[in-house]
Amino acid sequence: MNVLAISGSLRHGASNTALLDAAIRLAPRGMSVRRYPSIGALPHFNPDDDTLGQRTLPAVVADLRALVGEADALLLSTPEYAHGLPGAFKNALDWLVGSTEFPGKPVAIISPSARSTYAQAQLREILTTMSARIIDQASVVVPFMRRDMDADEIVADEVLAGALRSVLTELAAAVGHPDRSGSGGE
Ligand SMILES: Cc1cc2nc3c(=O)[nH]c(=O)nc-3n(C[C@H](O)[C@H](O)[C@H](O)COP(=O)(O)O)c2cc1C
Repeated sequence: MNVLAISGSLRHGASNTALLDAAIRLAPRGMSVRRYPSIGALPHFNPDDDTLGQRTLPAVVADLRALVGEADALLLSTPEYAHGLPGAFKNALDWLVGSTEFPGKPVAIISPSARSTYAQAQLREILTTMSARIIDQASVVVPFMRRDMDADEIVADEVLAGALRSVLTELAAAVGHPDRSGSGGE
């Protein structure tokens, strides 16, 4: 099973990215988690470049769509800025709206912060509108004790590592059993 992890943060040393990098290392047998290198490399979304024939689709966007297509599930983690999603993350999602690869994709939403409730709610609304299959059992807050924890520290922390393992196990179970879906995309 292939999982594509996408961080909503461009920041060096980002907690959301560290959480996903820890998930890569905690993946159970039979699951491979890879992280999308950078949403920051995507151009600003422009519907003019999102044509059906894809002749004007930027190569970096075509690559993102191909990675989404190859993935059995997505694992998303994003910060909240001013009670909303980071613009760069929303931009990446906008490029996926018109794709054939995204609809019906199982998605888990995780977060290192219990405070970012507006961003989490917005992300759910957007993903539902995009016909994602949000996996509620795998969508949890994995609360950091310190914001600057790196992937090594997360993996070494029994509670955080346990929570991440549970996320990945639930995601695998939901993908294996299509009826174990959450509230999204229905
Ligand atoms: C410009 C700016 C606005 C922010 N607004 C919020 C906010 O509205 N709510 C919140 O919970 N955190 C807010 N934060 C805090 C970030 O979500 C927090 O620093 C988070 O850890 C950043 O994620 P990262 O470590 O993955 O980069 C804001 C941070 C910045 C820089």
